[in-house]
Amino acid sequence: MAAAEAGGGGRTPACLCVLCGLPAAGKSTLARGILSAAAEQEWRAVVVPYDDLIPEDAFLTRVEEDGVKLQYMIPFQHTEWKSHRQAVLQCVEQFLKRPEVFAEFPSSSLINGAAWERCIQALRHPEGLKPDRTPLLFLLDDNFYYPSMRYEVFQLARKYSLGFCQVYLQCDLESCISRNRGRTRPIPAEVILEMVKRLESPNPQKNSWEMQSVTLNTTDNVSKCDIQRVMELISWALTNPLSPAEDDTEQKEADRLKCATSVVHRADQACRRLISEAMKTARESQVPSEQMRSLAAELNESKATFLHNLRKQFLQEASFIREEDVDVEHVVKRAVDFFDDSKKEILLRFIKEHK
Ligand SMILES: *[C@@H]1O[C@H](CO)[C@@H](O)[C@H](O)[C@H]1NC(C)=O
Ligand SMILES: *[C@@H]1O[C@H](CO)[C@@H](O)[C@H](O)[C@H]1NC(C)=O
Ligand SMILES: *[C@@H]1O[C@H](CO)[C@@H](O)[C@H](O)[C@H]1NC(C)=O
Repeated sequence: MAAAEAGGGGRTPACLCVLCGLPAAGKSTLARGILSAAAEQEWRAVVVPYDDLIPEDAFLTRVEEDGVKLQYMIPFQHTEWKSHRQAVLQCVEQFLKRPEVFAEFPSSSLINGAAWERCIQALRHPEGLKPDRTPLLFLLDDNFYYPSMRYEVFQLARKYSLGFCQVYLQCDLESCISRNRGRTRPIPAEVILEMVKRLESPNPQKNSWEMQSVTLNTTDNVSKCDIQRVMELISWALTNPLSPAEDDTEQKEADRLKCATSVVHRADQACRRLISEAMKTARESQVPSEQMRSLAAELNESKATFLHNLRKQFLQEASFIREEDVDVEHVVKRAVDFFDDSKKEILLRFIKEHK
């Protein structure tokens, strides 16, 4: 009995493979290489290109809204982006559940239906192959810069007992920027710079679910050897599908709340320190005492909003981690940097007004 059969209840062996990395890191080139290698193996394989599937205006409105560049990528505000990503996975799920129903288009306006149609076309004509038992491979092509984004894919793989693996394309920033510049529709270089700051590459030591990951150095190019490594990883994943998780939802929920409380508490302390530093600076800059009170109130209010959003966002983002796996220090630091920015802005305004 094949391993895939044991795990997948006699279903077609299938694998979700996450390709992650900066824009222009070489994901599409790699994907093309894997597609031809997969064809040689007589697998049915398809690239799921997030850039094509998610309507461009979803991206642009986030960038332009309020004149705040890159807003869509600021963690507290990327819930809309998240809906788009989830809609892509829903399309994949729909296909997994009912592969025979080809005519069904994604009902969701969050997805470009024509792009999905093109994407799935490759699976519709498995010329001369027996579709039933032919391994099925989805290559998910997006940046996937936070672990939480990749975890959504892992959860889907686990739900349907599929194979799961990840390829991180590590590429020198300069190379990404220069390759991006050569494209017909380059994305703003600032977007790439912002993403570098946020990128958390697969870390199997920290997240056990990221065990099946490889890192490729794509600074120069994608080599035959790279493709070979990825094919081996996928083969392994196909024959070793995940098992559905046992239901420990309640315990997880409790852990999550506890963890969020601790993150917010630590962030609160860090913010208090930042506020008292700001007050000291204002005093030294001779801001009048009446204004000092307004400054204190404004900083206080900004902190309250920040902590509220932090809690909300943490609960969303952290749905995938066990408490002992959370690097509270790191989460707090990353978050408090955002508060620090708005603190600086408020402080500067007060100092300018009273010069
Ligand atoms: C990746 O490859 C480039 C060029 O071959 C090399 O300069 C760079 O140091 C490599 N990066 C890593 C992290 O190994
Ligand atoms: C990179 O690889 C692609 C595909 O393997 C090839 O077409 C291209 O010429 C290569 N580019 C360089 C600079 O080696
Ligand atoms: C700070 O804000 C909290 C709630 O937002 C409020 O209870 C508290 O009185 C405020 N403190 C100052 C010094 O403004």
